[in-house]
Amino acid sequence: MLSALARPAGAALRRSFSTSAQNNAKVAVLGASGGIGQPLALLLKNSPLVSRLTLYDIAHTPGVAADLSHIETRATVKGYLGPEQLPDCLKGCDVVVIPAGVPRKPGMTRDDLFNTNASIVATLTAACAQHCPEAMICVISNPVNSTIPIATEVFKKHGAYDPNKIFGVTTLDIVRANTFIAELKGLDPARVNVPVIGGHAGKTIIPLISQCTPKVDLPQDQLTAVTGRIQEAGTEVVKAKAGAGSATLSMAYAGARFVFSLVDAMNGKEGVVECSFVKSQEADCAYFSTPLLLGKKGIEKNLGIGKISPFEEKMIAEAIPELKASIKKGEEFVKNMK
Ligand SMILES: NC(=O)c1ccc[n+]([C@@H]2O[C@H](COP(=O)([O-])OP(=O)(O)OC[C@H]3O[C@@H](n4cnc5c(N)ncnc54)[C@H](O)[C@@H]3O)[C@@H](O)[C@H]2O)c1
Repeated sequence: MLSALARPAGAALRRSFSTSAQNNAKVAVLGASGGIGQPLALLLKNSPLVSRLTLYDIAHTPGVAADLSHIETRATVKGYLGPEQLPDCLKGCDVVVIPAGVPRKPGMTRDDLFNTNASIVATLTAACAQHCPEAMICVISNPVNSTIPIATEVFKKHGAYDPNKIFGVTTLDIVRANTFIAELKGLDPARVNVPVIGGHAGKTIIPLISQCTPKVDLPQDQLTAVTGRIQEAGTEVVKAKAGAGSATLSMAYAGARFVFSLVDAMNGKEGVVECSFVKSQEADCAYFSTPLLLGKKGIEKNLGIGKISPFEEKMIAEAIPELKASIKKGEEFVKNMK
């Protein structure tokens, strides 16, 4: 499972068994007892890249940590419960992953989560800015199109902002695109790579199927249908779970893939590329997801949108107004905070 999980970082993972000195990532999961948090923590505990796993939530972390701590891998595991224990959870962390907050129920958009999740993300990122200002911050909590501007403004308020270290985790969109295109074309999904740019909500999710490797040809009706399926894949899961939440297992996989790529790059592996929703100058809005070359200090280079089709150009133009509105909503939220 390990090599499949860490696909983009597979070689480095295998190497990691012999170069243990570099594989000392200290990773915190905030919201660790939830539907995403628990399987994500399991995947992180299972990785030789991680030496310390600290788990924070407002409920159940002592149990989750005790359970995981019996697994015969190197990473130490400790649970932290409630706001007074949050600073200790964060001190010394290299990477913080945040899946804390409420998920969607059928009929809800990601933006419907704003009222609850905005303050959760603001509080947690404020603690990160104070207690691990150098760490990479990976936000999973929705609406990502607003929670990344929130995280940014909070870090700015604390004078700890580094645009290269704050990531909106959109990896699940890439994972889904790879899977659906592989299904359509009878390919091995592990060998398919579809960049997905824009944001992480409905029409702002823009798969660049014209840039897929290996190259795939789809008639326009199939292209439109699979693009729509990728954009609404989260809703597909919300509907199937019928009130019991949104994607958790596939999200845990995607979150772990992103963290492993980041840690590999921090360890000096070259050529590690992931898409993520970040502060950007690549489109006509302040934040945008594009492929990023990752390095020791986070984003090394934004690889930009690249050559795209007229169909994809139109999708970008249609996404910008929604992205701008979601970004503004996040920024205003922090401005109005006491
Ligand atoms: N980025 C993506 O692609 C993606 C995909 C799926 C879900 N999500 C989002 O991830 C989030 C979590 O989803 P889930 O299914 O794990 O939800 P969940 O309800 O199962 O778990 C959320 C966890 O957060 C904890 N929590 C709540 N407030 C907290 C606080 N102030 N501090 C610390 N922990 C707190 C809860 O106790 C719970 O354990 C949701 O916002 C969801 O929309 C994002």
